[in-house]
Amino acid sequence: MKINGTEYRSIALSANGWSVRIIDQRKLPWSLEFVELTSAEMTSQAIRQMWTRGAPLIGATAAYGLCMALRQDPSDHSLERHYQMLLEARPTAVNLQWALHRVREAAKLLQGEQRVAAAYACAAAICDEDVNNNHAIGEHGLKLLQAYAREDGLVNVLTHCNAGALATVDYGTALAPIYRAQEAGIAVHVWVDETRPRNQGALLTAYELAQHGIAHTVIADNAGGLLMQQGKVHVCLVGADRVARNGDVCNKIGTYLKALAARDNHVPFYVAFPYSTFDPSLGSGAEIVIEERDSDEVTSIQGHGRSGELSTVKLTDSSAANPAFDITPARLVTGYLTEKGIAETMTAGT
Ligand code: MRU
Repeated sequence: MKINGTEYRSIALSANGWSVRIIDQRKLPWSLEFVELTSAEMTSQAIRQMWTRGAPLIGATAAYGLCMALRQDPSDHSLERHYQMLLEARPTAVNLQWALHRVREAAKLLQGEQRVAAAYACAAAICDEDVNNNHAIGEHGLKLLQAYAREDGLVNVLTHCNAGALATVDYGTALAPIYRAQEAGIAVHVWVDETRPRNQGALLTAYELAQHGIAHTVIADNAGGLLMQQGKVHVCLVGADRVARNGDVCNKIGTYLKALAARDNHVPFYVAFPYSTFDPSLGSGAEIVIEERDSDEVTSIQGHGRSGELSTVKLTDSSAANPAFDITPARLVTGYLTEKGIAETMTAGT
């Protein structure tokens, strides 16, 4: 991902060879700040409090968290304790469990320094594979965008939340085809749902797209239905936090309503994700644990004050509920876009 013309990954191993540098996403788009994660405890806090976020990225971050715990103490007890602690940081995205499991498997039959080295090698592989998978998703998705482009070459994509480079190690899932389309010279324009309550669309997706010079317009979450009725959305493209065996998709709250509007208006609705987001152990989306976050995220909103400071203002004194994800039933999904290609069903196994 380019930020101010410089290439960054959302997570990178530091020059010391053991801690990791992440982008502090709480500060974007107002300022680009990095945080050095130096322990499993700090990594867990960063995931819980969403300094870093997005399904594939929290997996990669947790993987390094477990490495740092083993560097401190490579015992079996430390492996199990920190595995559990990191697993509990956020419940919904399966990538967290997937990545921790991979590191534990790579480390468990070894001891001492060899165990630590194997864990770090595994975390590095998780990161590199994520980037490669996202490039493959972009390549397959390019064909979709070419197919849905109008005769004059324009394609209007609607996306929800942030499933871009900032939600992954690099390049993104739902945004990967958009980056690839731009490289291929397609006139792509993106409708960016603001994505209340945390505004990942308005704050992060818009920032990423702006940094790459991609035409985009931020819209209120409730505007997508009207734009679809007016023929102004040619395809919806969203990410996922967990996809069940029957193809039900769990993604950021509000995704389901876009899928309903898309179906009513004959707009194709695609979900992009790497296979690490597929959870065949769950029969349907009803089994997915939906994270309930702090109601403060709903009752207040953060922004840039007139004098340039970050400030929080209260919207209501009423009590609020804050389910962070919802389930889009498989019947509303036109297709699944993964590193393996485009599939109409998940059960067919792409
Ligand atoms: O709560 P967040 O910001 O971690 O939620 C992120 C999303 O819902 C993304 O759409 C999803 O993780 C896909 S990221 C490639």
